[in-house]
Amino acid sequence: MNAAQPPEHRQGSEPGRHNLDPHLDRYAARTAGMTASEIRALFAVASRPEVVSLAGGMPNLAALPLDSLSGQMAELIAEDGLVALQYGSAHGVPTLREQICDVMAMEGITGHPDDVVVTVGSQMGLDMVTRLFCDPGDVVIAEGPSYVGALGSFAAYQAKVVHVAMDDDGLVPETLRAALAHAKSQGKRVKFLYTIPNFHNPAGVTLAVERRAEILEICRENDVLVVEDNPYGLLGFDGQTYPALRSMDPDNVVYLGSFSKTFASGLRVGWVLAPHAVREKLVLAAESATLCPPTLNQLVVSRYLATHDWKGQVKTFRENYRERRDAMLSALEQHLPAGCTWTRPDGGFYVWVTVPEGVDTKAMLARAVTARVAYASGTGFYADGFGSRQMRLSYCYPTPERIREGVRRLAGVLESEMDLMRTFGSGTTRAVSGPQFPGPDTA
Ligand SMILES: Cc1ncc(COP(=O)(O)O)c(C=O)c1O
Repeated sequence: MNAAQPPEHRQGSEPGRHNLDPHLDRYAARTAGMTASEIRALFAVASRPEVVSLAGGMPNLAALPLDSLSGQMAELIAEDGLVALQYGSAHGVPTLREQICDVMAMEGITGHPDDVVVTVGSQMGLDMVTRLFCDPGDVVIAEGPSYVGALGSFAAYQAKVVHVAMDDDGLVPETLRAALAHAKSQGKRVKFLYTIPNFHNPAGVTLAVERRAEILEICRENDVLVVEDNPYGLLGFDGQTYPALRSMDPDNVVYLGSFSKTFASGLRVGWVLAPHAVREKLVLAAESATLCPPTLNQLVVSRYLATHDWKGQVKTFRENYRERRDAMLSALEQHLPAGCTWTRPDGGFYVWVTVPEGVDTKAMLARAVTARVAYASGTGFYADGFGSRQMRLSYCYPTPERIREGVRRLAGVLESEMDLMRTFGSGTTRAVSGPQFPGPDTA
């Protein structure tokens, strides 16, 4: 390597390999799976004001009582600042862990505060659970599609993701059975099933209550742990909740919770409720990652839960999201061309759209952004390149008017894409080929 050359002209030590990163040969092998998610790459363009972004999953915080929150935070520092601004334990603030148990009781979970570990968002919980359980090459089973941040954690620890199909009632038990049998026949070790049972991100569907016991039983029979990720469980539009998997099989389910969607995502407070035997390892993993979660943020959440009508606030969030969901579904009905199908969520943030054969949502995205609308292409939600006929539309953040306008623009882009296909054939739009998993509404 010639140090005198500017970095963009240097080459890696492998013959013929041009690289722009002078550290490329130093990285650990596991970084090979670490690539920026398609969604992150989109954020910069999609956040321009003229673009209606149906791409991101940012909670709409406008309904939060900011005045009373700011007063409370000032009080917290004045009254308890020496604790709030100090290191704490890796396990989390004890009072908050008790309050978290009350929150989880709303979905039927009886957990002990000792078994709760507070995390920096549930994303950190995902990272720690994967770190604890996955060696390179181990299999994680996840719904197809699945949460992009979870796929990132699995890739970072070199786990292999095997997707299982969903339909309108969530994960299909037979596909789980088949995936487990296949892994076994290949001599692969399946470490856990990662599932988002309620108001799925990105599919927008909910696991039918009748399927829950069966899925738990299949996992037990096959000695596979269940990781239940439930950040949206309290956001059912009719105030409905579903029995958590954790409530049905406490010894075999690691539960991930979060205050990101029910309070404030920027505080980064989530938690893991683990079987007792796993909890100690989680605390050690948390210690090595962050020493402790931020004390100030935990105390803010704890005071908020103790002094605000937080359930009333969740109801307000639900009503806002319901109005937005209604705007999106009626706009899709009105504008989307024949041949498109989509899910109809009854909670959460997302609609999963399947477009006609031959349209490639990843290739189409640049044209959509030019038409001032952004979405998340389905391929980002699969570990294996599927999903090019799907897209995720988020209705959580824009106003209902912007949602309607965004869908109208998107429909225009789809129409012209389909016109092109009719004129020149489907190769015009398809950049990624390969078999398609059935979308959740067509399986
Ligand atoms: C399914 C799912 N799990 C986990 C997370 C991460 O949430 P947190 O903000 O608690 O880290 C998200 C965020 O969108 C999510 O949708």
